[in-house]
Amino acid sequence: MTDKDTSQQLWTGRFTEATDQFVEAFTASEHFDRRLYRQDIRGSMAHARMLADAGVLTEPERDSILAGLAEIEQEIAQGDFPWSPALEDVHMNIEQRLTDRIGDAGKKLHTGRSRNDQIATDVRLYLREAIDAITAELLRFQRGLVELADREADTIIPGFTHLQVAQPLSFGHHMLAWYEMLVRDQERMEDCQRRLNVMPLGSAALAGTSYPIDRAMTCAELGFDRPSDNSLDSVSDRDFAMEFTAAAAILLTHTSRMAEEMILWTSPMFDFVDLPDRFCTGSSIMPQKKNPDVAEIVRGKTARVNGHLVGLLTLMKSQPLAYNRDNQEDKEPLFDTVDTVLDVLRAFADMVPAMEPKRDNMFAAAKKGFSTATDLADYLVRKGVPFRDAHAIVGAAVRHGVEQGVDLADMDLATLQGFSDAIGEDVYEVLTLEGSLAARDHIGGTAPAQVRTQVRKARERLERDE
Ligand code: ARG
Repeated sequence: MTDKDTSQQLWTGRFTEATDQFVEAFTASEHFDRRLYRQDIRGSMAHARMLADAGVLTEPERDSILAGLAEIEQEIAQGDFPWSPALEDVHMNIEQRLTDRIGDAGKKLHTGRSRNDQIATDVRLYLREAIDAITAELLRFQRGLVELADREADTIIPGFTHLQVAQPLSFGHHMLAWYEMLVRDQERMEDCQRRLNVMPLGSAALAGTSYPIDRAMTCAELGFDRPSDNSLDSVSDRDFAMEFTAAAAILLTHTSRMAEEMILWTSPMFDFVDLPDRFCTGSSIMPQKKNPDVAEIVRGKTARVNGHLVGLLTLMKSQPLAYNRDNQEDKEPLFDTVDTVLDVLRAFADMVPAMEPKRDNMFAAAKKGFSTATDLADYLVRKGVPFRDAHAIVGAAVRHGVEQGVDLADMDLATLQGFSDAIGEDVYEVLTLEGSLAARDHIGGTAPAQVRTQVRKARERLERDE
């Protein structure tokens, strides 16, 4: 037997030589999983209380463990904790420190559990809180959009399909379309949170433990809905990480679409909105530039989270049950996804509601693209012309308008009647942008009255969620 190094590691019993230095660094995770220290301590406290109740620990042992863990939590929060990569991860760093502080009682904490159920518990506790923070930012962003929608219900913007002017819209309606995306994102987050709130602790390494543990007790203390029903599944399951990241990727896909529209709208070619200077930056060479960098970075952030999603799916693919060390690789993408989502939501919840619409420019653009052509066709249908014929009649009128450089609303009655004798003086009511909007007065339509109804509905929902 070779001489054993006086290693700090907690599992060296069966080893006869020290870990290779590179391997030690390569396998360590404490530099990133230390982020879980509060959850880890919380789980350990619940476990210690339960072990004492079950008669596995004495009450003095329990009390000394609890006091020691509370001190360690302080120490870490203050930045005084001696993190060591030789102790691998957050779990063993804390456990070793506990033993250093309180002696042999510390060595009993790990009775009846494994790092496999410990890490699965820690990450679920962490993500549960992270989703609360994300939901709060989603709600703040939603509120901002709803208020903007209310202020701008009567503001007219061209609506696009194929990025060609299609039909006029209420700008408030457009803001509420963004709001709807965020409502679904919130639902996905809350749904993911519901499903992850099941407790793995007590599954131990994979098969459960021979100690008389009380999982209902730790479950209640940690605020989980129930203990997991299968120890094998619950130490190997990382669905919550994939599911959360999928919900995050969809959320960031939404914010990237919003970002893209704002980038277009602030471009001088559109010139539909102004962003307050505090959200923009300039160019080091072109003095005239005011760039929508926040929106561009938000658009770009989508890439890394999409990458994390693919990374996590690939990480889990084909893994045999139960725990495999591969799973250590779930943390960095997961943490980065949480950070990225929170940053993006914070940026947009601040910036988007501060957008200043340039109403005249939007209005002029909506007038330019024959955006009431559908209204003219609908008018002809109401006068008895079959829709297909009406479509062709209006097409001819638009062609004439393009050739002459004149909008439908600006053609005189005789000209319009040249295309169809079904057209009367009342046609001008439908050819205006305001008339076009007001006509779409049904649930989900863009009429300003409907937009205000939706604003009221959204406000009631937001008040309920507060
Ligand atoms: N650090 C590991 C992880 O992040 C948890 C430890 C389990 N390690 C082990 N050798 N069983 O998943």
